[in-house]
Amino acid sequence: MAMIAYKCPQYKVTVVDINTERIDQWNSEDLPVYEPGLDGIVREARGRNLFFSADIQRGIKEAEIIFVSVNTPVKEFGAGAGMAADLQYWEKTARQIRDVSDSYKIIVEKSTFPVKTALAMERILTSDSNGVGFDILSNPEFLAEGTAIKDLEYPDRVLIGSRYTQSGLKARDELMEIYANWVPNERIITSNIWSSELSKLVANAFLAQRISSINSFTALCEKSGADITEVARVVGMDSRLGPKFLNASVGFGGSCFKKDILNLVYLCRHYGLEEIADYWESVIGINDYQMGRFVLTMLSAMFNTLAGKRICLFGFAFKANTGDTRESPALNVSKRLIAEKVELVITDPKALNNAMKDLDGIEGKVSYVEDPYEASAHCDAIAVVTEWGLYANLDFKRIYEAMVKPAFIFDGRNILDHKELFEIGFNVFPVGKPPLTHFK
Ligand code: UGA
Repeated sequence: MAMIAYKCPQYKVTVVDINTERIDQWNSEDLPVYEPGLDGIVREARGRNLFFSADIQRGIKEAEIIFVSVNTPVKEFGAGAGMAADLQYWEKTARQIRDVSDSYKIIVEKSTFPVKTALAMERILTSDSNGVGFDILSNPEFLAEGTAIKDLEYPDRVLIGSRYTQSGLKARDELMEIYANWVPNERIITSNIWSSELSKLVANAFLAQRISSINSFTALCEKSGADITEVARVVGMDSRLGPKFLNASVGFGGSCFKKDILNLVYLCRHYGLEEIADYWESVIGINDYQMGRFVLTMLSAMFNTLAGKRICLFGFAFKANTGDTRESPALNVSKRLIAEKVELVITDPKALNNAMKDLDGIEGKVSYVEDPYEASAHCDAIAVVTEWGLYANLDFKRIYEAMVKPAFIFDGRNILDHKELFEIGFNVFPVGKPPLTHFK
């Protein structure tokens, strides 16, 4: 919404939320999310044509177009628990829009929803709506965290799904007109509403599958002497496959991939498509395996016992350039290490507050230290879990000197110079490459 306001001063954009604390933060100098470049565009548009308010009723009444961006977490209760999307916030929003509206509105699904959610929205809005008309569009968001502003400003594509009725097509054209203010026409694509809803889930499933695919070969590389970076380079030079999203890692995280695949799996099972459900579920299976394998590598490298050892996690965010820790591999790895009775020291430039919240109530020895030098001092091992660029530029000689010997580094993102670390004295365990150790 900030990008729309920034690019289109002719529209008034109001963001409403039930969480007043968040709205206050959006109205302050200290925005509630860290995202490179976001501060600048919010500062430019806020108070001009971008407003943040907790007055939801007024927001609905005044709007001609409503983008519904409520969260759709995985359901934690009842049928489909642990897999299906929890649509209660979405449904409440639909009812509130219906009850408050007194003029025609275009409703845009912005959150990621299971296929056919628009139908439910349509049914709620048109039952008992006092003759007020609505058109529902699906306009999924493809931005990735950490690069959100660039992704919004220069999107690969903007997708708008609509009904092919006269008013559905008119609503679609109106939304296209908004994006046309900065997105080239050939990148604004249209489809029917169900294709649009499904495409979002399929795109995320493909991306996650690509990471699980490359990660599935890391163990074989470590055992056979092959190097996953070299293999990925060769694979990525095939123009049919392309070089992006082939970085082997400790595993993927984030609020979307796992949730969206679980939704897809649930949907397939609902339609009796067991084989398809199993196929996509295995993408998550490999990811869980990879996170577990990372900790098992640490365990076997460090003489089959981690109890009482101090291990420093470099990074807690689910990826670099964000403070977001939702479904972060760091959380999974932390829990496993705590279960091994490790003394954990966590460092991260942006995610320490979230890390504290995530590990709150979990019994174990955990400390949080912002400075990586201080954090790793007196530790037995470092595990790189987030690919923050700053970690590649640290003085590892200094770090090595302050650590317990033998000192270990487990590079879960392959961002460090492994040969140099080995020469300094570290025992180095990358992902998908044979380890470099000083043991005979
Ligand atoms: C993902 C998609 O990339 C977006 O297109 C989509 O819009 C978004 O989900 C969403 O549905 O909202 P995001 O989760 O923000 O975006 O971040 P990604 O860049 O996709 O990274 C996801 C995870 O995969 C991170 O933990 C990242 O470190 C990991 N990753 C990524 C790898 O392990 N290897 C890679 O090669 C790429």
